[in-house]
Amino acid sequence: MKAVPLVLTGFGHVGRAFFSLLREKREDLERRYGLALEVLAVGRAEGCFYAGGPLDARQISQAGEPWTSGNPAWHAGLKVTDAIDRHGGRGGCLVECTLSDLETGEPGLSYVSAALRAGWHAVVASKGALVVGLPDLRALATGNGVALKYSGATAAALPTLDVGLFSLAGARVEGIQGILNGTTNYILTRMGEGLDYAEALKEAQDKGIAEPDPAHDVEGWDTACKILLITNACLGTDYALKDVHVAGITGLAADLVRSARREGRSVKLLATAAPGRTKGRWTLDVRPSLIDPSHPLAQVNGTEKGITFLTDSMGSVTVTGGRSNPRGAAAAMLKDIINIFRPAF
Ligand code: HSE
Repeated sequence: MKAVPLVLTGFGHVGRAFFSLLREKREDLERRYGLALEVLAVGRAEGCFYAGGPLDARQISQAGEPWTSGNPAWHAGLKVTDAIDRHGGRGGCLVECTLSDLETGEPGLSYVSAALRAGWHAVVASKGALVVGLPDLRALATGNGVALKYSGATAAALPTLDVGLFSLAGARVEGIQGILNGTTNYILTRMGEGLDYAEALKEAQDKGIAEPDPAHDVEGWDTACKILLITNACLGTDYALKDVHVAGITGLAADLVRSARREGRSVKLLATAAPGRTKGRWTLDVRPSLIDPSHPLAQVNGTEKGITFLTDSMGSVTVTGGRSNPRGAAAAMLKDIINIFRPAF
């Protein structure tokens, strides 16, 4: 059995779902992969949960909420880096799921940089850290001989990077199209069914798929981050968020969505990466688009997502589905950890 120390940063919906999933899958992970994943610390902005050994959910939360006051495992002011140092040694994995700040990348950027410097792998769901700092983080990971994986930030339970980087190895990617945000796809689907925008958004929030600030979803920024990260990873480019043309769904008329549906077509918030007019430059675009029933993503409805890769030698490859909620995001992070530490097969 290989014991793998983990430090978790962020204890919101995704962090909590990750913790529950670990507990639920413990035996399965041991039996199928020979891995014992042990959370040694959970870092929050004000301090860390840390008890010198694997943490149990009862040491962290009460009634589903973080338990700090009067908790012997809570150390106000203790930094994530201190918890990693106290473990002493390389080879653990940071699980980063703090809220994204798309301008500074913080606090995730500092957590991930520190972990990579300490010789820890990092599995990252925070898009902000990656959008702001990916080239530097990649260099840090390579320099320290550790892995940096981010399925959780690139449509999570829908496999995107694993397909682009592994399944399509050797093929040249000539274009990418995706429905990469569950919230907006859900809203557009429900608007087509007759709800108005506000009702549909409320439903998406109740399902726990919308970001705490849904502006990131409905204005297209969540989708923009995902197409940016997927494109840069699959093409080896270094485009920045400012290179993505972004239009969201906030101003979209409900009539347009409904009349499209009556005609058998649909309106989707489509992300596109395609070769631009200037040789060697790609155009990255997020906008509501009217698509025909023959489009490979036309049947992607509700909270589901989908991605199509156009390639030179493998044709067009589409993947659809994937759960768009905290449990799905947590499962995507768990997948990345397993793929870092599992025995070769
Ligand atoms: N809010 C996102 C979505 C999930 O609706 O797909 C996190 O990226």
